[in-house]
Amino acid sequence: MNFAERFQQLDAWLAAHQKLWRAKPFIEHQCTWENQWPELATWLRKRSLEQAEQAHTQPHLIHAPAPFGELARTAIAFTQVPDWSSQSCDVFPEPLQRHIPGRKWQQIIRFAQASQTRWQQPTRHWVDWCAGKGHLGRLMAWQGGQSLLCLEQNAQLNRDGEKLSESFLLHARHQDADVLSPSAWHYLAPEQSLVALHACGQLHMTLLQRVAARGCAQVALAPCCYNRIEGMDYMPLSEIAQRAKLKLSKDDLGLPMQESVTAGQRTRRLRDCSMAWRLAFDLWQREAQGSDHYLPTPSRPESAMSQGIAAFCRELASYHNLHLPEPASWPELEQRGWQRLAEVRNLELVRGLFRRPLEMWLLLDRALFMQEAGYRVEIGLFCPAELTPRNFLLIAELPCAQAITRL
Ligand SMILES: C[S@@+](CC[C@H](N)C(=O)[O-])C[C@H]1O[C@@H](n2cnc3c(N)ncnc32)[C@H](O)[C@@H]1O
Repeated sequence: MNFAERFQQLDAWLAAHQKLWRAKPFIEHQCTWENQWPELATWLRKRSLEQAEQAHTQPHLIHAPAPFGELARTAIAFTQVPDWSSQSCDVFPEPLQRHIPGRKWQQIIRFAQASQTRWQQPTRHWVDWCAGKGHLGRLMAWQGGQSLLCLEQNAQLNRDGEKLSESFLLHARHQDADVLSPSAWHYLAPEQSLVALHACGQLHMTLLQRVAARGCAQVALAPCCYNRIEGMDYMPLSEIAQRAKLKLSKDDLGLPMQESVTAGQRTRRLRDCSMAWRLAFDLWQREAQGSDHYLPTPSRPESAMSQGIAAFCRELASYHNLHLPEPASWPELEQRGWQRLAEVRNLELVRGLFRRPLEMWLLLDRALFMQEAGYRVEIGLFCPAELTPRNFLLIAELPCAQAITRL
């Protein structure tokens, strides 16, 4: 299926199921979809927090009442892409990977391998966009004996990157540059191949727009943090997505990012406790005020947890200028907070089914934009999700004849 057809079908499906993925069980005590599918809601509400945790990264594996299974199957069908994430057999000099955490290095070598095997034309000059210390660009330039330009805002990362590139005698320039500023765009040229590993929303959207405007030969992008955009509304890049049924807000763009595969045991426990206490506060304030409104709870430092639930909740009450009567029993309120957390996390599994499809919608918008600009485009996976949940790779290349005319 071509990208445009796939996008239109996905767009219609996501638009038709908005009330399922826009529901926020943390804020709403009763989601609107629960009336329509009471059996599913009751089944989910009876499950434990541990069961929700186990299903979080792969919600489609649970056997929940209808329409869960059908939604899960459709979500998977919409998000199928070729898997390019083969283990690299290449051997690299040790200094190339020195100081790079293991997981990051694995992402880098798999990104490099996947992109190089997809491009059909030779590469000449590399640009690493939002390069950090330029580890990815350096690997690619080193492999081909080619020159490298790293565009990065953080001067210290550039100075560190320069030292690393010098040690490989690479022809590399680490340029202090804000890629969102037009002054950085004149570094782009048609003969370049651009790479961007985990450049956030606006940064990678600008990358694609500048690559297309300048007619650069090739680009390989693993997008991340789709919600880091300038405005409050998402402005699609492609003409097809501009005509889509779905209109996304910055808040909606946070959904694909709500997947925590990398958090350790202690971090997860602290996060859960903080959530359970916030939910306990929410129960307390609603009941004490006779209101059914959620009150936002600002994030609290870890130290706020050491004082116990009573101090934690009183602080939140004073943040909202509330003078609430004390609950009958803090331990009982805490227990109810944990119970609410289990329900919230299980109800969120429904929303979780739409995380990847929504990310696919955004990825297809990027792919369609590059196609509209005359590029040959492919999308696939560059590494397994255990290495990073942001594992989609977009490859775009100007067909040979066009590249020559634009030069
Ligand atoms: C998530 S890191 C990715 C770094 C590198 N690509 C990697 O995978 O290790 C994003 C990088 O973008 C840089 N950055 C953020 N805003 C930028 C901007 N406006 N212009 C240039 N670089 C920027 C940050 O300093 C950071 O190094």
